[in-house]
Amino acid sequence: MSGLTRSDRLRLAAERLKAAGIDEAADDARRLLLAAFEGSPARLLTEMASEMPDAELERFDALIGRREQREPLSHILGTQPFWTLELKVTRDVLTPRADTETLIEAALAAYPDRRAPLRILDIATGSGAIILALLSEFPNATGAATDISEAALAVAQENADLTGLADRVSFQHQSWADGLEGPFDLLVSNPPYIATAVIDELEPEVRAYEPRMALEGGRTGFEPYPHLFAEASRLLVPGGLALFEIGYDQGVRAREAASEAGAKETRILKDLAGHDRVVSLRFSV
Ligand SMILES: C[S@@+](CC[C@H](N)C(=O)[O-])C[C@H]1O[C@@H](n2cnc3c(N)ncnc32)[C@H](O)[C@@H]1O
Repeated sequence: MSGLTRSDRLRLAAERLKAAGIDEAADDARRLLLAAFEGSPARLLTEMASEMPDAELERFDALIGRREQREPLSHILGTQPFWTLELKVTRDVLTPRADTETLIEAALAAYPDRRAPLRILDIATGSGAIILALLSEFPNATGAATDISEAALAVAQENADLTGLADRVSFQHQSWADGLEGPFDLLVSNPPYIATAVIDELEPEVRAYEPRMALEGGRTGFEPYPHLFAEASRLLVPGGLALFEIGYDQGVRAREAASEAGAKETRILKDLAGHDRVVSLRFSV
């Protein structure tokens, strides 16, 4: 008997993660404790003052060890919450980010009638996060989604199955929207937008574990957008809407590129931290 309770172990684990440079150390340790416990959160709460059985301690220690090496929590747990969904995540996809929910909010604000039979295209779908969140909100909508990574598309398909949305979405392996004809009412995309030189400066969770092709947007980071804006102009119905996630410092370039692509209405929307995060375009109003 060690005399250490689960609360003690949790505190020690959080200290280990903090020492490894992890900001959310206490939260991460708590979520890994729950994973090691293999029971409900409610039951865990009632057992925090008890000692851990050896097998649970071994599991917890292994999970904390992985996080200490800066493996993302989403990879260790295998899932990540996005919008109202719990999505499968592997090394083949970008872990969906809370910032990307700005794009979902913008779509909901633009289409207040949730029964609208929207045709939605998600370019560079990764885990399927954006298209699946939208289909979950618009029960009569249908979607197409593309990615250049077959491995990512396999994860997206699994997420569509897990969320019960598979009958309304088709996943297609291709570059951007090549070969697609549309038309679509709503086009959404969160393409890679980080400048090549910046990638090596990112947190280890991102640079060492996330797929480079999900991050890298060329020398300036902005390179995918001019082509994507032109594709939106080609594929949208008159009055259709395009929503693109952008980097916090790409608002000015996005406005210029939108004007060059012939957008009639351009709006830059901010995320919860107040950063430019989404460019909203219409090519006819
Ligand atoms: C930033 S991740 C976004 C994933 C997901 N949409 C999300 O928001 O969580 C970018 C995605 O773009 C894909 N990608 C990169 N180049 C592409 C291309 N030429 N055509 C289609 N997808 C591409 C990557 O494989 C990756 O899944």
